[in-house]
Amino acid sequence: MSVNFRGIPALVKLRNKGKSPVINPTETLMIREKGEDSQIEISGVTDEINSKITIKIGNRSRVKIEGIQTLNTRLIITLGDDCELLIKDGQKINGPLRINQFEASKVTIGKNGLFGPCQIWTSDFHSVIDNQTKNRINPPKDVVLGDHVWLGAEALILKGSTIGDDSVVAARSVVTKSYPSNSLIGGYPSRLLKSNISWDDKLLPYNLENW
Ligand SMILES: CC(C)(COP(=O)(O)OP(=O)(O)OC[C@H]1O[C@@H](n2cnc3c(N)ncnc32)[C@H](O)[C@@H]1OP(=O)(O)O)[C@@H](O)C(=O)NCCC(=O)NCCS
Repeated sequence: MSVNFRGIPALVKLRNKGKSPVINPTETLMIREKGEDSQIEISGVTDEINSKITIKIGNRSRVKIEGIQTLNTRLIITLGDDCELLIKDGQKINGPLRINQFEASKVTIGKNGLFGPCQIWTSDFHSVIDNQTKNRINPPKDVVLGDHVWLGAEALILKGSTIGDDSVVAARSVVTKSYPSNSLIGGYPSRLLKSNISWDDKLLPYNLENW
């Protein structure tokens, strides 16, 4: 198990009950369980880290976080054995973001994502069994979010989902499929609500004539 917390000591600002910020990476990164031959690498963290990153990692697994721009609530990562999680640069995490990879699988999150309180799962936690064959029929699958994807409040991204660049997932959606770039995705189960959209995390002025 190797932990690389590169660059963080000089950059991390922690809440300290009204006192001046404490620089203490060990309070920001909490590793609850660590497996053999696993690796955690975190870099590119700014001073807008106001909460904790909690990581539980199994054997032969790898977490690589290339950059978090803001973390207003917790980032909770749970990886079993033989898992890989890559979070690219520039993430804004406004709600607790839970990433659960209980079985061998890969999650990739592209650059500049925006997250309300939401979850990404690559496994179902339990088995679905075909009564005829007695075989388990619900394997884990990878999840891919492209660059600049916004997951709205309480979105649930399930195994096998792929969401293209510049897409938005509406509040309380359950996503199980793949969608191209510039999609507005929503519903339970999700469907393509609008194509050829993009988004901006700033509230831009709108033109009433376009309504
Ligand atoms: C995704 C969202 C931004 C889309 O807003 P919009 O572009 O104005 O979309 P509209 O209101 O025009 O809705 C378009 C269609 O999507 C449907 N829709 C919108 N939100 C939906 C949702 N959460 N689930 C299912 N369908 C939804 C609408 O019913 C409408 O369907 P119709 O065309 O059949 O009538 C908005 O619906 C949403 O989910 N906002 C919450 C964002 C959020 O969670 N922010 C805080 C955390 S970061």
